[in-house]
Amino acid sequence: MPEYTLRIRRFDPQSGEAAYWDDHQVQLEGSKSVLDAILKVRDEVDGSVGIRCSCQQAICGSCGVRMNGKPGLACNTHLDEAAARRHGTGWNPAQDDHGEGDAVGAGVIEVEPMGNMPVIRDLIVDMDAVHWKKIQRVTPFLINKEPVPEREYIVPHENMVDVTQSMACIQCGACVSDCLSMEIDPLFVGPAALAKAYRFVGDPRDAEHEERLRDLSEDEHGIYDCTHCFNCIDACPKGVAPMSQIMRLRRRSGSDFEIEDRNNGHRHEHAFVKNIRRNGLLHEADLLPDSYGGKLNPRAVPELLSSLPTAAVGLARGKMTPKTLLMHSHKASKEVKKLFDTIDGKQERVELNLYVVGYEDETESETA
Ligand code: SF4
Ligand code: SF4
Ligand code: FES
Repeated sequence: MPEYTLRIRRFDPQSGEAAYWDDHQVQLEGSKSVLDAILKVRDEVDGSVGIRCSCQQAICGSCGVRMNGKPGLACNTHLDEAAARRHGTGWNPAQDDHGEGDAVGAGVIEVEPMGNMPVIRDLIVDMDAVHWKKIQRVTPFLINKEPVPEREYIVPHENMVDVTQSMACIQCGACVSDCLSMEIDPLFVGPAALAKAYRFVGDPRDAEHEERLRDLSEDEHGIYDCTHCFNCIDACPKGVAPMSQIMRLRRRSGSDFEIEDRNNGHRHEHAFVKNIRRNGLLHEADLLPDSYGGKLNPRAVPELLSSLPTAAVGLARGKMTPKTLLMHSHKASKEVKKLFDTIDGKQERVELNLYVVGYEDETESETA
């Protein structure tokens, strides 16, 4: 039977003592879950280990923790998988066993509470203080259209397929734990709540699509506060892909309702596309003025002036030269331009819901 070192992060904010690592040797098959190992330690060695769990079937969403640096469900993560993960922390890659760095040794599984939420005790975080507060922020219920039909609302199949992915969320908070934007801006509405918002924006029975989108576009901590880091997609144990739902909200807001938010998020996105179409590679120096309507636009001037200290630091550190700052010799290739033309030439926007696999005319056995 393999042996694992379960290294649990212990912390009791009431005690006034600092957090510490608590190591336990656990003998269990590698196919057992990290939660099995934590519960074994709690039942057989130390009953004071704090962990929240219920279903043990990846359904209730209560056992979210970080395992060797990566957030997920403890009941849905095998010990061998967690031990092999050997993540580094933050942006630092894992090192090998003999190297310096943050990686943990073979057979060691570090279990920590999720990030971006205050710790109540050991592995239990305060979901009410962050996660549920943000869910409440997005009006997490359907506001039905009037008049109410005599019988049920009929929803087209394709609309339900479109929202299936966001409906799969079990509110575990793993995406919130690793959201980089939330780390910088704790007021960011965040991946789970925005995925929830798309669940109603994509539902034709809801009467307030535009109001919801306007609200989340105008909020400076709303849909344009996401930096596309992909962490939430990586973290989600249910394939909800919150970042994709946020991008859908942006497309609905900008393209369908033409909402030009005061945070300049929509124009910034357009400037980004224009920049790549023209240059093939991003030319950062043009991005800011383009986002404000061009270098000569009066709205761009104060923004350009405020960015001068950043440019000066970049020049001083050799990250850019006066030539790269002012000129950009790279031009987009024909292939890049063709890609943009093909997308622009489409009559309708096609949203790919990668969560639903298979085709309608396939038999069940073909789809399985
Ligand atoms: S992609 Fe956006 S929402 Fe998702 S974790 Fe990164 S910043 Fe947060
Ligand atoms: S989107 Fe995924 S990771 Fe985020 S709360 Fe829902 S199930 Fe958990
Ligand atoms: S205990 Fe319910 S999801 Fe893990």
